[in-house]
Amino acid sequence: MEEKKHKGVSRRDFLKTIGGGAIGSAVVSTGLLDTKEAEAYPIEVVGTRRGKSAVTLKVNGKNYRVDVEHRETLAEVLRDQLGFTGTKIGCDRGECGACTVVVNGRNVYSCSHLAVWMEGKDILSIEGLGKGEKLDPLQEAFIEHDGPQCGFCTSGQIMSGKALLLRNANPTEAQVRKALSGNLCRCGNYNREVAAVVAAASKAR
Ligand code: FES
Ligand code: FES
Repeated sequence: MEEKKHKGVSRRDFLKTIGGGAIGSAVVSTGLLDTKEAEAYPIEVVGTRRGKSAVTLKVNGKNYRVDVEHRETLAEVLRDQLGFTGTKIGCDRGECGACTVVVNGRNVYSCSHLAVWMEGKDILSIEGLGKGEKLDPLQEAFIEHDGPQCGFCTSGQIMSGKALLLRNANPTEAQVRKALSGNLCRCGNYNREVAAVVAAASKAR
C-alpha cells in the first residue's frame, strides 16, 4: 500500500523517529485512533517550539507571557525580552551578585536561575522599587551616602538590601554586611553601601 505523506513526514517516518512500540501502545491506550485511522490522519509537526516553553513571569507586579528557551536564565529574559536592563550581568556564573533580584522575598542571582523555573513566582527588579518619580528610600539612601561609584554593582546591592529589609526592618550593621556579602563591588565601596542600607532602615523606623 502506498504510504500517505504529509508535509514530507510520513507516519512510518514518525514511528521510526520516536519508536514504533511507544506509539502503538499510545494509540491503543487512548482509544481515539485505531491503526487504520492513524494512517489516514498523519501527524503534522507545526512550528519549531522544541526547546522553548511559554511561561508567565510576574515582574514588578505585572504578568508577562513570554516564550523562553529552556537554557535561558532569568537575567537574560529580564534584560533581553522584558527590557529590565537595570539588572546587570557581571560574571554570569553566580559569583558577583550584579544580577541580584528579589524572588518571593529572597535575593537571588538571576544569572543562576532558569527562566522556566520562575512561573508563578513574584519577581522584583530594581525597576519595581520606585513609584513613578518617587524613589524607594533605599535608592535615596544610596544617593545620599555615595553608594554608587562606577554603579555597576549598585542595583544588585540595593536588591540584596531590599530583601534584607523585607524580612528584617531593623537590621544591625553586621546583619547588613552579611546580607550584602554576596554582592561584590570592584570599586571597593562596601562601607558606603552598608551605610546606605543601615540609613534606609533607620529612616523607615
Ligand atoms: S552576573 Fe550573576 S552572579 Fe555575577
Ligand atoms: S560601585 Fe563600582 S562595582 Fe560597585
